[in-house]
Amino acid sequence: MKINLANIKKAIKHLNKNECVAIPTETVYGLSGNAYSNKACEKIFRLKKRPRDNPLIVHYYNNIQLRKDCNFDNRFLDLYKKFCPGPITFILNLHKNSKISKIATNKRNSLAIRFPKHPVTRALLKKLKFPLAAPSANLSSKVSAVRSIDVKEDFGNKIKYILEGGKSKIGLESTIIDLRKEPKILRVGGLEISNIEKVLNQKVKIKNNPLKITAPGQYKLHYSPGIPLKMNVKKAKDNEAYILFKRIKKAKPNYYFLSKKGSLKEAAKNLYTTLRKIKKSKFKSIVVGKIPNKGLGITINDRLLRASKF
Ligand code: TXA
Ligand code: MG
Repeated sequence: MKINLANIKKAIKHLNKNECVAIPTETVYGLSGNAYSNKACEKIFRLKKRPRDNPLIVHYYNNIQLRKDCNFDNRFLDLYKKFCPGPITFILNLHKNSKISKIATNKRNSLAIRFPKHPVTRALLKKLKFPLAAPSANLSSKVSAVRSIDVKEDFGNKIKYILEGGKSKIGLESTIIDLRKEPKILRVGGLEISNIEKVLNQKVKIKNNPLKITAPGQYKLHYSPGIPLKMNVKKAKDNEAYILFKRIKKAKPNYYFLSKKGSLKEAAKNLYTTLRKIKKSKFKSIVVGKIPNKGLGITINDRLLRASKF
C-alpha cells in the first residue's frame, strides 16, 4: 500500500486538536483519538455510543513508546518479538504515573494495548507524540468496519477525517490476551491461539464464553447485523439470506458466499462486509451454514454466535 503523506498530515492535524480520526488497521478500522487527552477520549465514547464502563484499547508504534505507560515482562517481550506489529492485544498493568486518560480506562489500573501492522497507521503512529485510543470504528454493539465506506455508513459526517487504507487484510478483531497474572485469552481473534501457546510454551486458558461476561466490556450483544441470525443451518428458506462458507454451483439469489474455495482466511476477510451487505438487502433474517471450527474459523464462529444473540 502506498503511503500518502498529505493524508497522514491531515490526520495529525485533527488528532493534535483532540478530534477523532478513523484509521485503517489490518484487523478492522479504528476510531482514534489522543489517548492522553480526556477530551478526545470523551469524543470517542460519544461517537460510538459506547457504554462508559467499556474501556478503550490503545495503539502504540513500538514497545519503547509503551514503556512510558505500562509495565511488561518477558512473556510480553517474547510475544511482542514474534507477533508485533500484528493482530494481538495485551492487557497490562498501567504505571502509576502513566498519562493515559482516566476516561479511556474508566479509572482501571490495567490497559489494553496493541501495535497495528497496517503501514498507513504505522506511519501515523510514528509521527505522533501520543498513542492512539482506538476501539473498532463502528456503532457500539454493531458489526465492525473493514473499509472506509463502512465507517462512513455508521458515522456520516460526524467524524472529522477517515484515513484511507483499503480493505482490512484480516477482517476480524485482534486476539486479546491478559498478561497480568497467568496468561488468559479474553477474546479469540485474528491470531490463532495455538501460535501464542507455542511461544509461551504452555496451554493458555480461554475466558471467552460469548454468552457470559467474564471481562469488562465482554457484552453479550455484539457484532450485531441488526436482524435475527441463526447458525449451523443446513437448508434455508428463499426469503432468508443464506451465508455459506464455500461457493457452490447451484446458487440461489439469497446465497452469500464467504470464500471461493473454502479458505478460512478469505472467509474472515469477507464476514463483516457480507453482514453489512445483507443488512442493506431486502432480507429480514440471516441463516448461516456450518463453518469449520478450527483456526480462524473459531473466531468467525465466535462472532456469529455473538451476532445471533440479537
Ligand atoms: O483489532 C482490534 O482489536 C481493533 C482494532 C481497531 O485495533 N479494536 C477493537 O477494539 O476491536 P474494541 O474496543 O472494539 O475491542 C476491544 C476490547 C473491548 O471488548 C474492551 O472491553 C476490551 O478490549 N478491553 C479494553 N480495555 C480492557 C481492559 N483494561 N481489560 C480487559 N478488557 C479490556
Ligand atoms: Mg468492537
